Amino acid sequence: MKIVHYPHPALRCQSKPLTSIDKDFHLQVGEMFDLMYEAKGLGLAATQVALPHQFLVMNISGDFQQKDQEMVFINPVLVERKGAIEGDEGCLSFPGLFQKVRRAKTVRIQAYNIKGEAVEVTVSDLAARAWQHEIDHLNGVLFIDKLGVIGKLASRGALKELEEEFRKAQARGEFPSDTDIKQLLDALMTES
Ligand code: CO
Repeated sequence: MKIVHYPHPALRCQSKPLTSIDKDFHLQVGEMFDLMYEAKGLGLAATQVALPHQFLVMNISGDFQQKDQEMVFINPVLVERKGAIEGDEGCLSFPGLFQKVRRAKTVRIQAYNIKGEAVEVTVSDLAARAWQHEIDHLNGVLFIDKLGVIGKLASRGALKELEEEFRKAQARGEFPSDTDIKQLLDALMTES
């Protein structure tokens, strides 16, 4: 498992709700937390490790020692949003790119936790930003889609570089072709 970078097709995948919590799932969650801490992120969505399923891991403290801050949310749905606030945002799938994004200040989310229990949380500010960002990932929406005109212009160079890097990695055989990746994602979605 590794964190995939833009423009890997998994990042545009409309992921499928998770229907069972098994041993494989627990292993995937553990690996995702490791990758997230290693990359110094606060959250990681399944699509970012090329898994087309609706779950994400998060630790708003960014500190692997604060285990009580670790959260796993399955099939999360944003049920309410209030207010608006602009703030800097980055993404582990876009190394080096940071831009201002306008998000709701407060959001209410319904999901299932790792035990399969229904949970509901209301969060504001940084946590709300992180939740909105990660839930977007599960729907194939990326933070670059949320940028204003100036932010989009300012990101063009960085995006072009990421595109070139990804195509080179494909040419080196580190990733299959886009068509093959999409077939793999489809297969993962139908088997579970
Ligand atoms: Co992201």
